[in-house]
Amino acid sequence: MKKTIKSISGLEILDSRGNPTVRTYVELEDGTRATSSVPSGASTGQNEANELRDGDKRYGGKGVLKAVANVNGAIAKALIGKNAIDQKDIDYSMIELDGTENKSKLGANAILGVSMAVARAAAKSSNIPLYEYLGGTGAVRIPVPCMNILNGGEHADNSVDFQEFMLVPHGAQSFTEGLRYVAETFHVLKGILKKKGLATSVGDEGGFAPNCESNEAAIELIIEAIEKTGYKPGVDLSIAIDSAANSISPDLDNNYNLAWSGRGKMTTDELINLSEDWIKKYPIILWEDPLSEGDWDGFAAFTKRFGDKIEVVGDDIFVTNTKYISKGIEKGTANSALIKLNQIGTVTETIEAVRMCREAGWRYFLSHRSGETEDTFLADFAVAMDGGHLKTGSACRGERIAKYNRLLEIEHELKGRSEYRWK
Ligand code: PGA
Ligand code: ZN
Repeated sequence: MKKTIKSISGLEILDSRGNPTVRTYVELEDGTRATSSVPSGASTGQNEANELRDGDKRYGGKGVLKAVANVNGAIAKALIGKNAIDQKDIDYSMIELDGTENKSKLGANAILGVSMAVARAAAKSSNIPLYEYLGGTGAVRIPVPCMNILNGGEHADNSVDFQEFMLVPHGAQSFTEGLRYVAETFHVLKGILKKKGLATSVGDEGGFAPNCESNEAAIELIIEAIEKTGYKPGVDLSIAIDSAANSISPDLDNNYNLAWSGRGKMTTDELINLSEDWIKKYPIILWEDPLSEGDWDGFAAFTKRFGDKIEVVGDDIFVTNTKYISKGIEKGTANSALIKLNQIGTVTETIEAVRMCREAGWRYFLSHRSGETEDTFLADFAVAMDGGHLKTGSACRGERIAKYNRLLEIEHELKGRSEYRWK
């Protein structure tokens, strides 16, 4: 049955950092109403879809009233009367209407908001949960929660160069248990930091941001916390790292400067050798953006060296864009891509990026942004995409917990039918 779009409107709201972002409302002829809110990154790739911001006096230039006006105006006009079930038609109509390579005319924030709200309205009107609507009845695998527990780089004001250290509860039997493993360890880590006189304040994604003596000291604190909580490193819980190497690369190519820790300049080879030491010494299972987005050769060398042992994820280098992922597949740049809806700007194109990874035998890692809202679209989307793992922050900050709670709810709802495994 056709689910005709009756109205579309937008509203400027605030994200978890207090910066404006877009909320979208979609109403169907049958009376169904749905909303969505778009996230926003801080350590962004150069080739991400454009987030349209007003650039005037309001909110230090970060207002999104132009994007909201585009939702209310051009986008609404083009989509009213269309069938909400036809996600591809909806998304490609907006892409065409925008007409630019990076969605800079209408704004990826305007386009993605509508894309997500339409999907949600169609699911609601069909009376099926969003994960099932997007993934089918086979969408029963709940992702392993890669919980961010220690922050550095652009996401914190401390002496750690690498942006995210995550806990991966691959040894748990279910999502519910896995989430418990990582949340318990998060609290134990807090106690350890307190005892050592280190700060327990948190970064943008809710991980702790202590001034550690070195990057290695940060990892050792995490291992201490895993053991103290009663889990076995490498068996119950392993570690994932997002270097977000763009932020330690002044030229976004093969020059690096580990300035936060004071370790100083490094070449690609030196950084890869350092990674090798860590991979030998610590239970590291996944490494995201170990090199900068311009360092394609360094990335390929890293993958050649460690790709059979760990998951090597490209974030800023691929920006959820099939144009760059296909280049990566051809060159052996990585063996996995980070997937962020707002890097590309529509639900359909995000699904296309996932499909490309799957067909190449790559993994894909679903992700939130450092600026988030209480919207839980990502939780349903991760189950729908069958990716097996996601990152959506630490065991604090409501906008992160909202996604974890939604996943608890989905696992509960699927009682007996849900699956949970790392591979
Ligand atoms: P961002 O960081 O959301 O600030 O871009 C997340 C990441 O680098 O994975
Ligand atoms: Zn990243």
